[in-house]
Amino acid sequence: MRLGRSLALIVFALTLAATSSAPAATLRSLAPAAGIRVGAAVDVEALEADPAYARLLAREFNLVTPENAMKFAVVQPERDRYDFTQADALVAFAEAHGMQVNGHVLVWDRQLPDWLTQGGFSRDELMAILREHIRTLVTRYRGRVASWDVAAEAVGEDGKLRDTFWSHGIGPDYLALAFRWAHEADPQARLRYNDYGGEGAGAKSDGIYRLVADLRQQDVPIDAVGLQMHVGLDDAPRADDVRINMKRLAALGLQTDITEMDVMLPLPARGTALRRQARVYGAMLQACLAVPQCRSFSTWGASDAHSWIPEYFPGQGAALLFAADGRPKPACESVRGVLRRAGADKRRRVE
Ligand code: G3I
Repeated sequence: MRLGRSLALIVFALTLAATSSAPAATLRSLAPAAGIRVGAAVDVEALEADPAYARLLAREFNLVTPENAMKFAVVQPERDRYDFTQADALVAFAEAHGMQVNGHVLVWDRQLPDWLTQGGFSRDELMAILREHIRTLVTRYRGRVASWDVAAEAVGEDGKLRDTFWSHGIGPDYLALAFRWAHEADPQARLRYNDYGGEGAGAKSDGIYRLVADLRQQDVPIDAVGLQMHVGLDDAPRADDVRINMKRLAALGLQTDITEMDVMLPLPARGTALRRQARVYGAMLQACLAVPQCRSFSTWGASDAHSWIPEYFPGQGAALLFAADGRPKPACESVRGVLRRAGADKRRRVE
């Protein structure tokens, strides 16, 4: 009897030790029960040069977006000369690790090659160039790239269409055309409009809503709206407004995603700031999980070692879920906690 009790105590102690030293659950292991995918933008040069970065991506995420590798200037640096080296490497990496790929981006007014912007092309020529560019990319990855950012950042702060290289050269219907051409090339792909600064309430978010409502009304094949979510501690939208915005987009028959989240902090990042950052991440993920049509949550990078922020906003950084050495930050714990609770709630509802 006494022996039995001691044995039970030993087993209990061993179990406790095993539990406390068990590695924390990864984001990608928690995401399916919560009903979403978790993604990251990938710097393909770093993927090839930094094995720890590659391991982190494969371990934590089940969705990837090429940060730059599929952009116009990278893919078609000279007219009709395509370079898919980096894009192919990313798709192969994703397939090897069971990750979905989001293609980024077919029509955008940045990272365009000089031959295109300086070429003096007529409207008809520009339409032919864009159509061929979209056809070539989308066909190449048909069945391997599950969703595409067809168009990005077409709306201004005032909610009106921005005057861009494409709107100027083709006219405002370049957006509808781009979606139709992408759909022709891969009718199964999920097609998305992706923008920043229109996540919550305001003129820009209303403008994005009007744009996509108009596209739906014209039967343009658009499936989703991406809310980028590049924010800082003091300008993040209210989580309630994000949820309400997602719901009105859902009412148009559109899915939503958080596509490029990062929360920049003044460097060096201190404890309080890291804790506030964790709350912002948690709140935005909760907003997404509150809307069944919100399908994925992606950050614009994986660790602070590879992020666009310090270069574009000198003195700012530490914007992602993992520190430069790959260790999870408070923001990561917060995201894990929200995913875990959402998974448990869902299971309870299903049981
Ligand atoms: O391609 C050259 C390379 O040949 C050279 O060695 C290197 C030297 O710095 O520069 C390379 O190009 C840079 C490229 O990133 C790759 O590193 C460009 O100059 C630089 O402008 C470019 O920045 C990217 C930016 O988009 C361009 O607008 C950022 O990495 C990328 O994170 C950022 O991503 C955008 C999304 O696509 C759309 N939403 C906003 C988001 C953040 O701005």
